[in-house]
Amino acid sequence: MLISRTTPLRVAVLASGRGSNLQSIIDAIEAGQVQAKIVAVISNKKDAVALERARKHGIKDLFVDPKPFTGRTDSREAYDRSLLEVLQQHNVELVLLAGYMKIVTAVLVNAYANRMMNIHPSLLPSFPGLDVQKKAIDWGCKLAGCTVHFVTEGVDEGPIIIQAAVPILEDDTPDTLAARILVQEHKIYPRAVQLFAKGRLRVDGRRVFIDDAKPDGEAIISPT
Ligand code: GAR
Repeated sequence: MLISRTTPLRVAVLASGRGSNLQSIIDAIEAGQVQAKIVAVISNKKDAVALERARKHGIKDLFVDPKPFTGRTDSREAYDRSLLEVLQQHNVELVLLAGYMKIVTAVLVNAYANRMMNIHPSLLPSFPGLDVQKKAIDWGCKLAGCTVHFVTEGVDEGPIIIQAAVPILEDDTPDTLAARILVQEHKIYPRAVQLFAKGRLRVDGRRVFIDDAKPDGEAIISPT
């Protein structure tokens, strides 16, 4: 069902690193391609470039230090409870993981079921986890790519929203492949956010349907 909102979707981005995906979403919002407002960028790393990017665009940046929670048996959950408090304080409707290198627990997953997305640089369910561009090359795959999916408790396992395929070339290194995949990441993440903002995503079990999708599909980008 299409929804027409009177106020922009309130989004928070969790990021641990350079934040190029965050930047692609900021740019798409500023260009009027995505009807959303980033109300906070939150990091578990004090020096994350993502926080600098937020500040540059007048977006609230927050470092939530994991240190006080280390050593506890429930350190991950306790950390996520403090994140959840921040998200709720800011009335966040959609959470985006963008290079967020911390496993999220049921505390956040349940509070934001089907309202939290992640971007991952492989064609899931192939190659969840880390160093996935190298793994795809070493496996001899001819296609790699990236995936935006809803977040569930299993790492990189949630329902798939959009994927883009990227060919693996004979002389690719993990770095050259990662760079070409990143170009596609920057296209599909804003697109997924806009679909959500427009109320066009419907989750049915493992499958995500796009309401009123164009006949050629809006959930896949193929190599050209
Ligand atoms: C991106 O390639 C993203 O897909 C990946 O980390 C990079 C972050 O880049 N995420 C994961 O591997 C999560 N499993 P960015 O900080 O420039 O957006």
